[in-house]
Amino acid sequence: KKIYLLNGPNLNRLGIREPGTYGTGTLEDVVTLVSETAQKAGFEVEAYQSNHEGDLVDWIHQADASADGIIMNPAAYTHTSVALRDAVSSVSLPVIEIHISNVHAREAFRHTSMLAPVCAGQIVGFGMDGYRLAVEGLIHKLNERGD
Ligand code: DQA
Repeated sequence: KKIYLLNGPNLNRLGIREPGTYGTGTLEDVVTLVSETAQKAGFEVEAYQSNHEGDLVDWIHQADASADGIIMNPAAYTHTSVALRDAVSSVSLPVIEIHISNVHAREAFRHTSMLAPVCAGQIVGFGMDGYRLAVEGLIHKLNERGD
């Protein structure tokens, strides 16, 4: 049983990037948190980060054949990417969208998500702990479906 963890642009800079908004935890900390949470429920995690939209599209396609679900922080592409939305629509596995910050309390351009309508759920504004909540929510959904 496998979960893909996908992180989009600039999230490789977590910890040094705007710590007032995103906290001081690093991407490595995120991967550890997600892996440990998933492992408790018998899932393994494959984690990827890219600053390039097409890489994320490719990993979403790849996950369809090799994973049970996806946790994704599409970062800035959330607000712009028709390609990522279409990639999510093209796969049959549940995708959970997660944002570290409360995007709704920020600039207006962050209030819209191209992906949310085609995702199974969304976690917003819980800091890094949102990734843990996303894993638990995704696994609960998978177990409900009997996968
Ligand atoms: C983010 C929110 C996005 O608006 C922003 O572009 C990011 C990070 C978050 O996790 O809070 O890069 O996805």
